[in-house]
Amino acid sequence: MYLTRLIYVSTITQLCRPESLDEILIASRKHNEEDHITGILSFDEQYFLQCLEGSRSKVNEAYSRIHNDKRHTNVIILDYEEISSRVFGDWSMGYVPKSKLTALLNIQFSGSDSFTPYEMSGASAFQMLLELKKNLPSD
Ligand SMILES: Cc1cc2nc3c(=O)[nH]c(=O)nc-3n(C[C@H](O)[C@H](O)[C@H](O)COP(=O)(O)O)c2cc1C
Repeated sequence: MYLTRLIYVSTITQLCRPESLDEILIASRKHNEEDHITGILSFDEQYFLQCLEGSRSKVNEAYSRIHNDKRHTNVIILDYEEISSRVFGDWSMGYVPKSKLTALLNIQFSGSDSFTPYEMSGASAFQMLLELKKNLPSD
């Protein structure tokens, strides 16, 4: 089954409470491990930027669940493509909190020094996530 990468951006809703993030990560890591999905999730208290990589059918299934989740809204796909290898293979879902989304990194990959993932191309979003990966501890 073809290896696929999907990157999307979304906006938090009021249904996403402070404890929700832990719940999201626990559910993500459980399902993703079972489905051999790997990836990274960055979050700045307003927007999510997530990359999922794995078999096309499993990535599609996970995205469908995620898309229907009421804890976020305005879910927009930035990139969806077949890939020849994974880049986040060490993480069932690596997590990057706000503190790592520095002004320097934001200005490098978007037109602003704040985290504005809706303004990013798929290629910029991917490059930014690769940059963030450098400081991520393995799962
Ligand atoms: C921003 C965000 C990212 C998520 N990422 C994943 C993910 O990578 N994998 C996953 O299985 N669920 C993810 N979820 C959770 C799913 O939407 C859904 O709640 C979960 O898969 C259902 O798990 P359960 O049936 O075990 O309760 C995410 C939710 C949000 C809001």
